[in-house]
Amino acid sequence: MSTALPVPVSSPLTSALAGTTAVLVGGSSGIGLAAGVLLRSVGARVVLVGRDPDRLKTAVDQVRDACADGDSEDAVLGIASDAADEKTLTEAFDAAGRVDHVLLTASGRTGTLPMSEMSADDLRTTVDARLWPAFAVARLAATRLPAGGSLTLTSGMLMARPQPGTAARVATLGAVEALTRGLAVELAPARQRVNAIRYGRIDTPLLRSAPGHDSDDAVATVGSAVPLGRVGTAQEAAAGALFLMANNYITGQILTLDGGETLR
Ligand SMILES: NC(=O)c1ccc[n+]([C@@H]2O[C@H](COP(=O)([O-])OP(=O)(O)OC[C@H]3O[C@@H](n4cnc5c(N)ncnc54)[C@H](OP(=O)(O)O)[C@@H]3O)[C@@H](O)[C@H]2O)c1
Repeated sequence: MSTALPVPVSSPLTSALAGTTAVLVGGSSGIGLAAGVLLRSVGARVVLVGRDPDRLKTAVDQVRDACADGDSEDAVLGIASDAADEKTLTEAFDAAGRVDHVLLTASGRTGTLPMSEMSADDLRTTVDARLWPAFAVARLAATRLPAGGSLTLTSGMLMARPQPGTAARVATLGAVEALTRGLAVELAPARQRVNAIRYGRIDTPLLRSAPGHDSDDAVATVGSAVPLGRVGTAQEAAAGALFLMANNYITGQILTLDGGETLR
């Protein structure tokens, strides 16, 4: 894996992602889908990965419609796979072909429960929901990314602002961030880069499914407490990922994208 060559120098502007292929695990909704639209708009080939085939098909159509510029079928692919299942994930990466950048936004949903009331199975479920997909995707990315290629993982604001009943979730977010730093060093000899984004509240179907976030008014009220006065858009969240993909001199970093919410 080691190479004597330095990481290639290329324009750090996202327009330089034209002609690259990005695999978006979690690309059928929210931040991953918004990343697909942005990437396609700068001329990248995108491969959306999610579990629900119908949701995936709708997402593929949405990316194609947003960039209707005579796309070939191959420019936007949707591949059904479970990020927690290394076998189907391997098939998805194989079907994707060339892979220059990988963004993992998929994570299972886990609830809030005091640690003392959690069973060992609950704890394992929490770890499996976020940490295992990160391991699985990282193992595949490491065997495929070229020099300068990137993997971007996902963390969350809860990491900086734990709430009662979230200790296990916070621990897995911390593990993802630690994995990011460890992998960045491990993969640097191959000039592969690894970063993560710690998101605050982003207006996606996931946020809208949370208690107290199910209407525009409710989301606006929640957003009014954020220093920048609103929750983030999926497009703003996705743009952070494109920034990390495009800049060949960033690795091992955790980018906070939260409208300033964790500042106070
Ligand atoms: N939105 C926020 O406010 C916020 C805040 C902090 C952190 N985050 C983190 O940001 C990430 C993206 O969130 P989002 O708001 O974009 O969520 P979202 O709208 O619910 O999208 C999640 C995507 O991941 C896919 N997915 C989930 N589990 C999967 C699995 N096991 N294998 C493959 N695909 C899977 C979903 O499709 P299928 O269900 O069909 O598989 C969907 O495409 C998550 O990790 C979330 O925890 C979000």
